[in-house]
Formats: sequence, C-alpha cells, structure tokens
Amino acid sequence: MSATQTMPATNQSTTAPMTAADGAVIRVEEVHKYYELGETRVHALRGVSVDIQRGEFVAIMGASGSGKSTFMNILGCLDKPSAGRYLLEGIDVSQHDKKALAVIRNQKIGFVFQGFNLLARTTALENTELPTLYTKIDKNERKKRAEEALSMVGLADRTEHFPSQMSGGQQQRVAIARALVNRPSILLADEPTGNLDSRTSVEIMEIFQGLNNKGLTIVLVTHEHDISQFAKRVLIFRDGKIRKDEPVLRRPRAEEVLKTLPTLED
Ligand SMILES: Nc1ncnc2c1ncn2[C@@H]1O[C@H](COP(=O)(O)OP(=O)(O)OP(=O)(O)O)[C@@H](O)[C@H]1O
Ligand SMILES: [Mg+2]
Repeated sequence: MSATQTMPATNQSTTAPMTAADGAVIRVEEVHKYYELGETRVHALRGVSVDIQRGEFVAIMGASGSGKSTFMNILGCLDKPSAGRYLLEGIDVSQHDKKALAVIRNQKIGFVFQGFNLLARTTALENTELPTLYTKIDKNERKKRAEEALSMVGLADRTEHFPSQMSGGQQQRVAIARALVNRPSILLADEPTGNLDSRTSVEIMEIFQGLNNKGLTIVLVTHEHDISQFAKRVLIFRDGKIRKDEPVLRRPRAEEVLKTLPTLED
C-alpha cells in the first residue's frame, strides 16, 4: 500500500455532513484511485461521489477499464482510495490499515466474483462456513448458519456436494451463501453472471431480488443491460467517473421472467 500512502491526499475535507438521520450505508466522497506501474500512473477513479442507502439494489455498468472493479474493491474494503473518503455505515474507513479493513470486510461485506472461487475438495457446506472460521461463533452455530445461508439460495439439498458435482449456477449460489454467512450489511457482486448462461443468470437475479426484498443492500457490476434492469438503480461509469445515475423505471421480476425462459435440465 505504500504507493497509495505516498499520494497527495487532495480531498481530505472533513466538513461533509453526516447527520444521525442519514441512512446511507455507503457514502463515497470525491474518491480518486491511482495505480503506480513503474514510471506510469493510471488514474482509475477520478473523483467519484455517491451515496447508497440501506435496502438499495444498484447495478454498475460501463466500458471495460472504466473503473468499475476498482470502485467495487474500495467499497469492499479490499483496497483504499488514494484520495477522498469512504464512509461505511458512517465510519470513515478510508484511512484504516489492512488489518482493520480485513476485520470490517469480514463483518460487514459479502463479496461475490465472476469466478466462484470455491475450494475444490471442500463441500458446499464447508465452503459456506469458511468466513465464520475467523469469527468467535461456535462450531454448532457455524454449521447452522451455513445451512441457513444455503437454504436462502435454494441449496438445502446440496450441502454435501463438492464443487465438481454442481452446475455453474449452483456453484455461484454456494459463493453467494458463503458471502451471506456472516450476515453482512452489503452484498457486492462483480460480474456474478459473467460465466453463466442467460437462464442461470436470471436465476441468480431472482436470488438477489429476494435478498434485496428482505432488506439487504446490493451493489452489482454487470456488462449486460438486461441484468442491470433487475436492480433499482443504475450507475454508469466512464473514464473513472460516474456519468449517469438513474432509477430503473420498469423493473422486471426475475421470478416472472424465468417463467418465460425454457429450462435446460430435468
Ligand atoms: N492493480 C492494478 N494496477 C494497475 N492498474 C490497474 C490495476 N487494476 C486496474 N487497473 C487499471 O485501472 C483502470 C480501471 O480498471 P478496472 O479493473 O476498475 O476496470 P473495469 O471497469 O472493472 O473493467 P472490466 O469491465 O474490464 O472489468 C484500467 O485502466 C486498468 O488497467
Ligand atoms: Mg472489472
């Protein structure tokens, strides 16, 4: 992180209002991100500001290289802004060190990626339990929570399956269960349907809409317009900035869309 620490902090304003009534679970203020690559410096985020309220479901779109993953990594406390502030549930985490970020990440954030990143020789249940190993939760409770998380994604009957014994969609659902097991405040998903066929993608969106209906805040990166329309709000990134921020007006219910799509199996 030394590269980021030596960057001049051009936006350390501490005057931003943060009232008690402010429900923003995510508040990003003038965030910049530079990557140093030898002599060159990539300016990946160029002054991003956005508030995301509890219970929102936000899709992020934009061309390759526009800064979407960089932004998600900051939201997910996997990386820090070079300048600007990030408040997660009102706490300024932009100056936290790696260790403190890891703690926050494990408590408050569930992350889902395009590759499912499951451990191959480990069952669905054990994969789901993994993030609880870093908490004080006891063994029985860990198992109970993992089972609960797997039922939330419709995999109660697959707990003993290994990744190789599951379809791509099922593996991604295990990854979602793993992201939920510590009961995070936000679920971040960077192209979670990138490796999935269209029906399976809509099935994942059905899970996301269901979780969002129960109050979970979700931020999702996608390249597909159709997928973005399952969210409630769409942010479009261009050249490291948010160029558009619009509500989704005619939002389909994934559950309904699935009825119109042919099933592949059974
Ligand atoms: N670790 C890194 N080191 C150096 N440059 C990076 C690094 N990560 C990203 N970048 C650069 O930052 C810019 C934004 O990258 P980012 O991965 O955020 O784009 P993206 O919108 O997620 O693209 P994609 O749609 O292809 O996933 C790009 O120019 C990229 O090359
Ligand atoms: Mg990306």
